[in-house]
Amino acid sequence: MTAFTILPETGAFDSAIEDLHAEAFGPGRFTRAAFRVREQGPHDRGLSFVAVAQDGEKLLGSVRMTWIETAGTGARGLLLGPLAVKDGLKGKGIGKALMRRSVDAARDVGAPYILLVGDKPYYWPFGFETLPRGQVQMPGPVDPARFLVCALQPDVVETLGGMVRWRG
Ligand SMILES: CC(C)(COP(=O)(O)OP(=O)(O)OC[C@H]1O[C@@H](n2cnc3c(N)ncnc32)[C@H](O)[C@@H]1OP(=O)(O)O)[C@@H](O)C(=O)NCCC(=O)NCCS
Repeated sequence: MTAFTILPETGAFDSAIEDLHAEAFGPGRFTRAAFRVREQGPHDRGLSFVAVAQDGEKLLGSVRMTWIETAGTGARGLLLGPLAVKDGLKGKGIGKALMRRSVDAARDVGAPYILLVGDKPYYWPFGFETLPRGQVQMPGPVDPARFLVCALQPDVVETLGGMVRWRG
């Protein structure tokens, strides 16, 4: 068993998180549609978390949340990602622990919804469903089957529409 703790992200982890993203996603990460949203503005450290070893220093995993809106309605919500766990430590529950903590934190601050681009079989246990095709666009190509939403308030999905963009 790997012992780990989930902590709010701080600047002390910036370079380790960048290394983790390079390891997990390679140079192609800079061309992803979600990256194009995230480069419009900073993520919210208060809703972003790291998994660290028991010594409190070694980074094992990371998840980030960025405030966004959809152009059609201006409804403010969150974009989840990147989510990544260090090679050699996958399959030990770290990713799920990061997901639980970040979705709970989003709910606690009253975020109405969370979007992400990822594999539905991994994310559906946390409440993510496929977005209705064509309803929301990202600033780059996205496989519609991987464009997911978690509604944290009733009837919020119908209110979304148009291009996703960063919103502070
Ligand atoms: C995806 C990732 C974050 C999962 O983290 P993790 O700590 O390895 O996952 P956990 O230990 O919490 O969960 C493992 C379970 O998820 C499943 N799983 C892992 N990746 C999956 C995927 N892409 N699709 C479906 N299921 C997946 C495993 O099969 C395992 O299933 P089990 O519990 O039934 O045995 C990690 O594998 C990773 O960093 N991958 C590379 C980066 C990446 O793809 N990030 C997601 C971008 S959308």
